[in-house]
Amino acid sequence: MDRAEPSIFVIFGAGGDLTQRKLVPALYNLFLDKWLPEHFALLGLDRRRMSDNSFREHLLQGVNQFSRRGKPDPETWKRFVAHVTFADADFSDSKSFTDLSRKLAAQDKAWNTSAHRVFYLAVPPSIIESAAQAIARVKLNRDRSRSRIVVEKPFGRDLASAKKLNRDLGMLFDESQIFRIDHYLGKETVQNILAFRFANALFEPIWNRRYIDYVQVTVAEQVGVEHRGEYYERAGALRDMIQNHLLQVLCLIAMEAPNSFEADEIRNKKVDVLHAIRPIPPEQVHESAVRGQYGPGWIQGDHVIGYRSEPDVAADSTTETYAAVRLFVDNWRWQGVPFYLRTGKRLPARISEVVIQFRPVPHQTFPASALLDRRPNRLVLSIQPEEGLLLRFEVKHPGPVMRLAPVMMQFYYREAFKSEPPEAYETLLLDVMRGDAALYMRADQAEAAWSVLAPILDVWERVKPTDFPNYQAGTWGPEDAEILVAQDGHHWVMPTFLQCQEEMGVCRVAVGFDQ
Ligand code: BG6
Repeated sequence: MDRAEPSIFVIFGAGGDLTQRKLVPALYNLFLDKWLPEHFALLGLDRRRMSDNSFREHLLQGVNQFSRRGKPDPETWKRFVAHVTFADADFSDSKSFTDLSRKLAAQDKAWNTSAHRVFYLAVPPSIIESAAQAIARVKLNRDRSRSRIVVEKPFGRDLASAKKLNRDLGMLFDESQIFRIDHYLGKETVQNILAFRFANALFEPIWNRRYIDYVQVTVAEQVGVEHRGEYYERAGALRDMIQNHLLQVLCLIAMEAPNSFEADEIRNKKVDVLHAIRPIPPEQVHESAVRGQYGPGWIQGDHVIGYRSEPDVAADSTTETYAAVRLFVDNWRWQGVPFYLRTGKRLPARISEVVIQFRPVPHQTFPASALLDRRPNRLVLSIQPEEGLLLRFEVKHPGPVMRLAPVMMQFYYREAFKSEPPEAYETLLLDVMRGDAALYMRADQAEAAWSVLAPILDVWERVKPTDFPNYQAGTWGPEDAEILVAQDGHHWVMPTFLQCQEEMGVCRVAVGFDQ
């Protein structure tokens, strides 16, 4: 694959957190790995004033702290920031945008080319539309093949607002120009789901209701709400994580094989899954979804405060910091297979993984004495902190009698490829410069995801929880979440990475630890 073509990256809201933590560390890594074109410019726009130098200094602090490669080498950093400039801009002031337009034209002239223009809206949701309008006012939206906007989540806060946003953006930009980002789709293991499923002949024949008992997707965070109380109070775990990241992972697990790797072909197959998810009637919401909020507790020996005591959070807040849902995909492949999704803040560990739990063998050949440690096959796709795959299967326990024992075969990217996988944003930013939207959300995809959750959002809005906080920080969430899976005779699988992290190669699953 070649480098991106000449590109100008304009970040709106460049003084904010996202630019410092994610966007610039990712762009810097792309620069180091020689993916950025020779003709590359990064222009930061923000309301607050900064000189080019203080902006660069601000970015350096972010790279020092957040880049996967740690502090940059001063000489290389100097070469990178030679591409970086800053301008203060007020989105309601047309002069800022005439200046921007002039600058971009001057850059094209200096490079003697028509560069790709990426307008990255790293701004609060309430400003997205005015930023998009400001771009359109100076006609920077006109070049359909070279001019793109990137819209961060949350994309609306329910179906109606997402539809409105899609309509409004659609009046200014063609759908092919709108890149709705979901950074989970850029994660190596999430992308690997497609490779694993569709580049191996082995798994696809058993990837269905005949062999799979249930699927669990866990995205557990150890952090609390941090400094994002204001945003989070209006969002909550269902909107913040399940509507986007977890549902997208579900789509990749459940989708049919695409005919090609074309962006729209992949996205069509994902939308089919969302449309096949069984609607939850309002009266069944309590059987299909559980919410929770963390109280004070202990994380790795440190005492941490409860959600209601976090900055910018109401003392009687009813916002959920934990959500779990049970969904069914009503089609031939998945009829009757529950998909359990759970996510929460202030859980015991930062772990994201997908568990594909296979059914037990149809007939037991072995004597009862051999079956004490019997476990059905299980495949675990580990997304973080380690990116890899684990497969559990039965073997004969060594010894003179027949006894079965479960073992775990592991593949970790870091071990296998001896290198650190790129950060999700690296892949995604390179894709948008190239105009490849396969890993971005299409308008109908975002709306379909909201439709799935609409009944839960409605009921949760109407019926406020009376038992919050209902889980202690540092635990695996509210008790009701156990009931959600127990009603089907299952349990939440203890994250496999926690069971195996000490081991290399084959990990012997502790007997009695997890079924
Ligand atoms: C973001 C959410 O989309 O994802 C945050 O808004 C969350 O609340 C974050 O902490 C988790 O991302 P990651 O990559 O650290 O799992």
